[in-house]
Amino acid sequence: MLYLYSLDKNTKNIKKMNKKKSPQLKPYSVDVEKGKKYAWCSCGLSLKQPYCDGSHSSTEFKPIVFTVKASETIYLCGCKHTKKSPFCDGSHKFL
Ligand code: FES
Repeated sequence: MLYLYSLDKNTKNIKKMNKKKSPQLKPYSVDVEKGKKYAWCSCGLSLKQPYCDGSHSSTEFKPIVFTVKASETIYLCGCKHTKKSPFCDGSHKFL
């Protein structure tokens, strides 16, 4: 698990830094079911990629909860830098 901290110069308090981790530089191909709720990991720390396992509690990131309109195969972002979360938009090609 990734923990990064810095000292805030103004308050002298320990402040968490939040930097995304990229579990992989390609999308996750997953089969999803119509109407079922999913929680995509946006921090990259989950051990159950691409889904949230609660590891974000040490960061300011939150999972992206979504449902789908049809049972099908979709491509969820693996690098965590997509601008169309939770779906892959090709951002991993530029990291
Ligand atoms: Fe990454 Fe929950 S573990 S958002």
